[in-house]
Order: sequence, then C-alpha cells, then structure tokens
Amino acid sequence: MRYFNTAGPCRPDLHYMVPAMERLPEARTLAEQGMYFVVHAPRQTGKTTTLMALAEALTASGKYAALHFSCESGEPAGDDYAAAQEAVLATLRIEAESQLPGPLRPPRAWPKAPKLAMLQTALVAWARKCPRPLVLIFDEIDALRGESFRSVLRQLRTGYARRPKDFPHSVILCGLRDVRDYKAASGGDPSRLGTSSPFNIKVDSLRLGDFSLETLAELYRRHELEAGQPFTKEAVERAFELTQGQPWLVNALAREILEKMRIEAPAAITAEHVEEAYIQGIVNGAGYVDREYGVGRGRIDLLVRWPYKLPSGERKWQREAVELKVWRQGKPDPRKDGLAQLEMYLERMGLDRGHLVIFDRRRHRATAARRPLRPRPACLKPARTPKGLGAKVLLLA
Ligand SMILES: Nc1ncnc2c1ncn2[C@@H]1O[C@H](COP(=O)(O)OP(=O)(O)O)[C@@H](O)[C@H]1O
Ligand SMILES: [Mg+2]
Repeated sequence: MRYFNTAGPCRPDLHYMVPAMERLPEARTLAEQGMYFVVHAPRQTGKTTTLMALAEALTASGKYAALHFSCESGEPAGDDYAAAQEAVLATLRIEAESQLPGPLRPPRAWPKAPKLAMLQTALVAWARKCPRPLVLIFDEIDALRGESFRSVLRQLRTGYARRPKDFPHSVILCGLRDVRDYKAASGGDPSRLGTSSPFNIKVDSLRLGDFSLETLAELYRRHELEAGQPFTKEAVERAFELTQGQPWLVNALAREILEKMRIEAPAAITAEHVEEAYIQGIVNGAGYVDREYGVGRGRIDLLVRWPYKLPSGERKWQREAVELKVWRQGKPDPRKDGLAQLEMYLERMGLDRGHLVIFDRRRHRATAARRPLRPRPACLKPARTPKGLGAKVLLLA
C-alpha cells in the first residue's frame, strides 16, 4: 500500500501523490518551445518531484532526450569552477545512464576542453551526437557558489544561440532563488551577465506554488481510495488552515495521524485528529520546546521556538508561548488564573499573544482517565489576558 512521503521526492509507485506535472503545466510548454528558464520555490515544495516527472514525460514522448540531475555534487568545490564542472558533468553522466536509453546518452568520454569551457564543450558534443533535442534540468542550482555558478551560467548563455543543433534545446534551472536574484548572486553587478542573458527575463521564471484546498483534498482522498479510510470534510479544512497547503507539511500531518497516532481504518480521520497531530508535530519537528515548571504553582510554561529564514536570508525565530494548566476534580475552572499567569509569562518573554492549554481531568469525565485527552470540537477559543493581551484557549477533555 502507498504511504504519505516526507523524505525527498515522491514516486508514483510508492507514495500518495497529486499528479506532479499538472502542478506546473507551463513548464512543459516552455521546454518544448526551447526556452531557457528558471523554476523556483522554497524547500520541500515539490520542485524535484515535478521536474523529474517532466523529464520522464518528455523523453517518453519520443521527441526529446530530457535529463534531470542535481548540481549538489559541485557544492564543495566552492569557487573552484573546474572542480565544480567536473562534479556536475560526472553526475550528469551517471543520471543519463540510468534515465536515458543508450542512443540518447552522452559520448563515452567528454572532449578535452579548457577549464573555462568544460561544460559548454561537453554539451556541444552531446547535442551533436544525440538524435533528439536535449532538455536539461539543473536541479539544486543554488548549490553552485561564486565563480562556479557564474561560470556555468555564462557557458549556458554562450551556447544558447547555437541551440538546438549544437546545444541543448531547453535548459531549466531549478532552485530556491527567483531569476532576479541570479544577477546579484552572479557577482552583484547585474550588467556583468548582460541584458541578453537567457535567464533574466521575468516571463521565463516559474514559481511552484503550495497546494490549494482542492489539491490537499485530492491527496487525502487517495488514501481513502486505497485504504478505505476517509478524512472528514472538517479534517480536510482544518489541515488546510494549519498547513496553508505547504506540500511537505500536508504529508507530514497525514503521516503523523496514520503512523504515529495509529488511527486505523475504517475510522474516519477527524478535525480533532488533525489538531492533535499538528501540536505533536510542532514538538517533534524542527522546533524546540523550552519548558519551565512552576513547581508548586500548578503550572507549566512552554516556549516553542521555530527557526525560519526571511527571503533576504536573515535567520529569525518564531516564538510561541504556551501555558499549561490542569483542571482537577473539585477545583474551580483554572482559566482565569491561567490567563493571568500566561500574561506574566508573555511579559517576561516580550510577546504580545500566547496560548493557554487546559487539561480537563475532573473525575466526572468518567472516560478521561482511560484514554488520551482530545481537543474539544471548536477548540482554540480566542480570549484576553487581564491587561488585554491576545490568547487562545485550548480545552483538552
Ligand atoms: N506531487 C506531489 N504530491 C504529493 N506530495 C508531494 C508532491 N510533490 C512533493 N510533495 C511533498 O513535498 C515533499 C518534497 O518534495 P520534493 O520534490 O523533494 O521538493 P523540493 O524539490 O521542492 O524540495 C515530498 O517529500 C512530499 O511530502
Ligand atoms: Mg529538490
């Protein structure tokens, strides 16, 4: 049976997937038209999955020899552009041997070439030998640094005019950066790459987006079709609210529910399951949880910290404060005290809003002791601390 993938690119035979190429339909057209263009998106969006599917489809069409490969092996070379080109050319050959039938593969050895023109010379030799127009997808292009990056870009630009007979018909550069950023990355001076660069035209840059609500629903529906376990409409909506359609997160949430929480078919996956998995995922995921025990004061403070990067590359921390309280038998509702304590915590941490989580452990909730607590429907109610700071209250019963 297939599963939700959270480790690298998806494969249709192993993983639940939404059809990859349909996520970026323009890419195929641009490649067929012989364009040189950029595909960019943050990490874990599905770039590699989508472009691998594109390469496969183009080759299978019988009209092109399309190859997807990663430039990562060139990263340790730094500014040593000869070493970087050697590493990329080695990867390219290995990938060609596994992705393409014999007659479409590059010549047995790359021709001898000066250090500044190794890639260009190799691509000319391959394009001349190959019976079909070449489509090359340079994935992880950001891995190439400084002089190495500049050298690859320049050689592609130089060859561009000779395509398709003596150079690849289409080239796709795939990475985190948009095309505008390439100019800066290639030396800081936009004019150095020249305005005729095939990579500096806005129209030739595609941004792979996140999943829409419909796409997320379609993905979760695959599990229902294969395993007979539906996600309720509310579960799908809550998952979209919490993930905003970020593809990796959408998969990670489903995986947490099915494999860690072990909610088994045919029980439907509900919005409560999704919330529980989300909270659990924060704690187990890339974030950090700092605990402070208010010993004897009946409280625990948590600070969940999550690293992220601004588009400028600057590193930041998202910080979310959580106050935990237990509601015991015969005791008053701890909500009022909890909000006051949360406020003190928020002031100490310099935050203007936070979360209060109440574990309802009163005995008359007969089943509560025998099963894990679950968020109540319509949980996360907005509230205010005494001085008016924002809070969300989650009651687990
Ligand atoms: N077509 C798809 N359907 C469902 N999930 C996908 C799809 N493409 C990507 N994903 C999700 O995104 C994750 C990252 O995919 P990947 O192609 O490696 O992205 P990127 O190259 O942008 O880092 C996968 O592990 C999976 O969780
Ligand atoms: Mg990738």
